[in-house]
Amino acid sequence: MKVVIPAAGLGSRFLPATKSMPKEMLPVLDRPVIQYVVEEAVASGADDLVIITGRSKRAIEDHFDFNPELGGLPEPSGLRELEALSEKVTIHFVRQRQPRGLADSVLCAERHIGRETFGVLLGDTINVCRPPLLRQLFDRWEELGKEGSVIAVEPVPEEKISDYGIVDGPEVRPGVWRAQRFIEKPSREEAPGNLGITGAYVLSPGIFAAIRATPPGARREVQLTDALARLAREEPVYAVSFSGKRYDIGDREIWLRTNIEFALRDAKLGPRLRSWLQEAGR
Ligand code: G1P
Repeated sequence: MKVVIPAAGLGSRFLPATKSMPKEMLPVLDRPVIQYVVEEAVASGADDLVIITGRSKRAIEDHFDFNPELGGLPEPSGLRELEALSEKVTIHFVRQRQPRGLADSVLCAERHIGRETFGVLLGDTINVCRPPLLRQLFDRWEELGKEGSVIAVEPVPEEKISDYGIVDGPEVRPGVWRAQRFIEKPSREEAPGNLGITGAYVLSPGIFAAIRATPPGARREVQLTDALARLAREEPVYAVSFSGKRYDIGDREIWLRTNIEFALRDAKLGPRLRSWLQEAGR
């Protein structure tokens, strides 16, 4: 299974930290976000990844490369885990020449994907789900007859609606909607509902033609959500709910909370951090 990981975004919500460093390399505990994303793709069954990069993103390629100078480090350094991960999957890098948004970065993978249905996971979002989120989406796609596309959605609070692509359509079975209306970053009044696209997709190769036919929309970028709306006129696009939690690390506050949440769950760090937090809160 092939998976595209767009990682070309500018990281403007996290400046100046992301001025010369990719937001996908922000650490959550001891691993950069993109490593969690690659782990999720591999755990979902991916054996071939295309990471879409851009200017100032070279650190991502280096991260998944072999470092002979670190070979002599004592274990446990986490490096062996990373090397084992890198050996399980082939990672290709395609560079997006200009930051033209999510749909354009997906289009950059077209030649590599060809005519297969493929997965997309955002390079700055960690999904903690069991089974892994992309596996859940592919399973749904199989149940639904291996036809069309499947996108993950979750209800979003009213004040956050304008940060998301919002979809609506008839619920065809519990937790599965045949998406018919799509609006990228609507105002509360325009929003067709509260189902927000979370950034994990199983896409039919028909999406490429749909992206090419889509004019620029919100933020004057060609939006993947608008291309999905076009695709849904020709073939099914299902919005599906999922079990698990997502962490959008490109947001400073969520990055900080994710670090704390993950650290609290860590057997070594958790107990000391918990008592320190209690003291610090006084
Ligand atoms: C992108 C998508 C949007 C989706 C969101 C999830 O927006 O365009 O439809 O709801 O990811 O994070 P971005 O966050 O890049 O503005």
